[in-house]
Amino acid sequence: ILADKGQHRHFMAKEIHEQPSVIARALGAWISEDRTRVSCAAEAIDWRAVPRLTIVACGTAHYASHVAKVWIERVARLPVEIEIASEFRYREPPLPRGGVTMVVSQSGETADSLAALRYAKAMGQTTLGLVNVTTSTIAREADVALPIHAGPEIGVASTKAFTAMVLCLSALAVMIARQRGVIDAAGERARLDLLSTVPRLMAETIALEPQIEALAREISEAGDALFLGRGLMYPLALEGALKLKEITYMHAEGYAAGEIKHGPIALVDETTPVIALAPHDALFDKLASNMREVIGRKGRVAMIGDADACAEMSGEVWRSVTLPRADPLVAPFLYAVAVQFIAYHAALAKGTDVDQPRNLAKSVTVE
Ligand code: G6P
Repeated sequence: ILADKGQHRHFMAKEIHEQPSVIARALGAWISEDRTRVSCAAEAIDWRAVPRLTIVACGTAHYASHVAKVWIERVARLPVEIEIASEFRYREPPLPRGGVTMVVSQSGETADSLAALRYAKAMGQTTLGLVNVTTSTIAREADVALPIHAGPEIGVASTKAFTAMVLCLSALAVMIARQRGVIDAAGERARLDLLSTVPRLMAETIALEPQIEALAREISEAGDALFLGRGLMYPLALEGALKLKEITYMHAEGYAAGEIKHGPIALVDETTPVIALAPHDALFDKLASNMREVIGRKGRVAMIGDADACAEMSGEVWRSVTLPRADPLVAPFLYAVAVQFIAYHAALAKGTDVDQPRNLAKSVTVE
């Protein structure tokens, strides 16, 4: 079947725009009918006895896992280790007795991720496969397959699969928290209420496309770009830089904002856009001082923040885009849309092949 772009110029645009409905569908599939509790196949595991969750993935799925690490550690108080599959499989790390290893993969066919799954299985781990393609090898070979319900993703640069992974992993965190007695039924409902705000907030962010497009056009004129974030925004900075590299071929780096003084600040001059992912959360003051370090070296800070954050930095930053206010745990979904649009519109400005970027494959099934 030929997949349909609808009214969009590219599959990537269609897939960015359909995220609110994808997230609503994924959430619906991961919760009970009365919408009071998470309901998924991973409930069969006794999470009270699990000492550690190891998550293995490649590319965008790896960054989604980094967002999930924060969710699972913060909400469920379960230690999480994240690994790149191509490193994990050859390092042959010891894995804790009774541990769970989860492989996250849109296609379910990535060669390194599959090899990592087989290694974890051989090491006696309980294995989970969080996948989009439910007929895939990883789904078949994992002890428990967990679908993200994103629907077919055609654009090589992953968008809706990223946010669907984050959503499902967030729901998983809530279920683990309940099983481990970290939250009660009311706490679980509160978390689910929070997640149910995501589709609306993402739609509001998508409505800001013209503003993000204007920024992206300016960014596309630079040679390099730096993405900065802290906490949950750090993996979003990594994902933003990856998206920009993948489809514009610009050089971009994502960095933990607190680390720039240990190197990347040396790159900053008046031509480098520094995209700061800056919701007004508990880490905002720290990020604000990082933005000021950049501004003090004549760097061009493009701030993506909420109204409070943008108000605090107005008059100082080069550009700003104001996203809706959101709970810190929900903010990653909104900032994901923003960095996707930056890459997409920068690529349009450059005239690159958005859906089929050079040298990249949708799924890397050979090493
Ligand atoms: C390829 C794709 C990326 C994807 C990565 C992992 O590099 O171009 O978009 O993130 O593989 O793919 P997976 O299917 O395992 O999520």
